[in-house]
Amino acid sequence: MSTNATGKISFVKGQGGLSMVRVETGISSAEIYLHGAHVTYFQKNGEAPLLWMSAESKFDANSPIRGGVPVILPWFGAKEGASAHGFARVKEWALKEVGVSADGSMTVQLKLPQCPEMAASTPFTVNYFVTVGEKLELKLVLANVSSDKTLEIEECLHSYFTVGDIASVKVRGLKGVKYLDKVSGMTDRTETNEEIVVASEVDRVYKDTTGTVEIHDEKLRRVIQVEKEGSASTVVWNPWIAKSKAMADFGDEEYHGMVCVETGNVGKNKLVIGPGKTHTMVARLGASTQ
Ligand code: BG6
Repeated sequence: MSTNATGKISFVKGQGGLSMVRVETGISSAEIYLHGAHVTYFQKNGEAPLLWMSAESKFDANSPIRGGVPVILPWFGAKEGASAHGFARVKEWALKEVGVSADGSMTVQLKLPQCPEMAASTPFTVNYFVTVGEKLELKLVLANVSSDKTLEIEECLHSYFTVGDIASVKVRGLKGVKYLDKVSGMTDRTETNEEIVVASEVDRVYKDTTGTVEIHDEKLRRVIQVEKEGSASTVVWNPWIAKSKAMADFGDEEYHGMVCVETGNVGKNKLVIGPGKTHTMVARLGASTQ
């Protein structure tokens, strides 16, 4: 355990006996599992938790955690002969460093270990910086460490947010943006709504969009902001009734209390990183109460 004037970092066993880092700053607290470099919890003092977690989530070395912020890498979605959403979310990441900033925020740096699945790819490294403060800031740094090959890669910070009731939630900031509608057989559409309402299954990959998205939650009387840098895709997902029932690690009724607004570079926005180059993507997640 290490402490400073206002903060504390503890290294503990979390659910399922998995290694976890608990961060308590003077302003907020967070929990980060080394399994998947998975942030499962962030809460500002005196406010409701920001991130949603399923009560049915597995916590074992071979399964992804359901909720929080899964790190999706090096591919997004299904891939023939391989597990969906890549392998980074089921690897035990290495804890590299913890640091404290002058403003009292604390940063935990994690690194994806080299693993057999990476052997076929252009060599790359992944470092992840989780900063816990006024907001939860997630910075993913991908480096192509080859001297002559290009790296093509998808990434996504698949953030699940807690909402009071999905029926009284409006997602703003995507009007006019083209998206791939995964629910209607991968149809290309354009968002026409200022405010997106979720009243059935929603699974959309918004393309070429770099702006902040807001989740207006009438019941919890707050607005969640999803700000980003270095990201051209935003994914909005709520599984609704049938898909919730079909997922073993997701409660049948839990879709009422969550929505995913994900920050990434996927599909046509996949990254093409030149030899020796790096790419940095940041998702800054916070909320203001009304
Ligand atoms: C979203 C995808 O990002 O993740 C959905 O767009 C998918 O299609 C969802 O169902 C959850 O994926 P998983 O692999 O965690 O069940």
